[in-house]
Amino acid sequence: MSTEKIQRVGVIGAGQMGAGIAEVCARAHVDVLVFEQTRELAAAGRARILRSLDRGVSSGKITEREREQAAWRLRFTSDLGDFADRQLVVEAVVESEEVKTEIFRELDKVVTDPDAVLASNTSSIPIMKIAVATENPERVVGMHFFNPVPVLPLIELVTTLKTSEAVSARAEAFAGEVLGKQVVRSSDRSGFVVNALLVPYLLSAIRMVESGFATKEDVDKAMVLGCAHPMGPLALTDLVGLDTVKSIADSMYTEFKEPLYSAPPLLMRMVEAGLLGKKTGTGFYQYNRG
Ligand code: NAI
Repeated sequence: MSTEKIQRVGVIGAGQMGAGIAEVCARAHVDVLVFEQTRELAAAGRARILRSLDRGVSSGKITEREREQAAWRLRFTSDLGDFADRQLVVEAVVESEEVKTEIFRELDKVVTDPDAVLASNTSSIPIMKIAVATENPERVVGMHFFNPVPVLPLIELVTTLKTSEAVSARAEAFAGEVLGKQVVRSSDRSGFVVNALLVPYLLSAIRMVESGFATKEDVDKAMVLGCAHPMGPLALTDLVGLDTVKSIADSMYTEFKEPLYSAPPLLMRMVEAGLLGKKTGTGFYQYNRG
């Protein structure tokens, strides 16, 4: 096993999660290369990270100098070929098995370190489905971060039947020692630990609203005031992204055929309408984008 400390990380995708992952890595003094499909998306990703770093400064979590240094450690590319020297790559693109497997197929050809960690941030796709697209499935793990990444301390580490112990130990050490995150290990089942519990709850809340049983405001208020949750399930669905919640539900339903995991029609219609939640400005609630 390579004992070399991970200092060169690649992040694929600079959406909500990719941007957050890139930010925490840069704040942890790691060199970060971020892939986005186009220059425009890369610029939007960079702006997203800079806004978050600015919030970190205004809330006193980081200093001006830390913000400057983190921004300086971030580079962007639209060529996966640039990832050859990466020791850890975290993929955080759209929750699609097809898109992810294609990326891993290419990534595996590019990354040269045999002990490199190739991680997916998928919320629900079994990691083995992604790993088998590569020639080296022992390098592939799930590293499931939580949203917002700079705030939430958990990473679910998902190992497959083929992941090598060296690679999972390297991923765990990076998560804990470099990023300062807490790790829980999960077996390779759709939804892992958190979403297997969380997503049926979110879907049940959507069904309550859909059936007119209670208003979205009252469902959210009930869980915030009655159960001390920091936000209600509809607000949380907006934060996660309705497309992502639907994709997670679809993966879990495919795996378990459990009716509680099937996406309710209201969720499907809202996704079709492009009402994806906070990231598009409208979901169950309205948001000021920026
Ligand atoms: P997002 O919608 O904010 O970002 C999606 C990213 O995928 C963007 O960078 C986009 O450019 C890229 N993308 C879309 N189609 C692509 C393609 N064909 N090829 C390459 N890149 C493509 O989504 P978000 O929320 O960042 O989710 C990303 C991943 O993280 C998903 O796998 C999701 O399940 C997972 N995740 C999401 C969480 C959440 O709360 N939103 C929490 C934990 C994991």
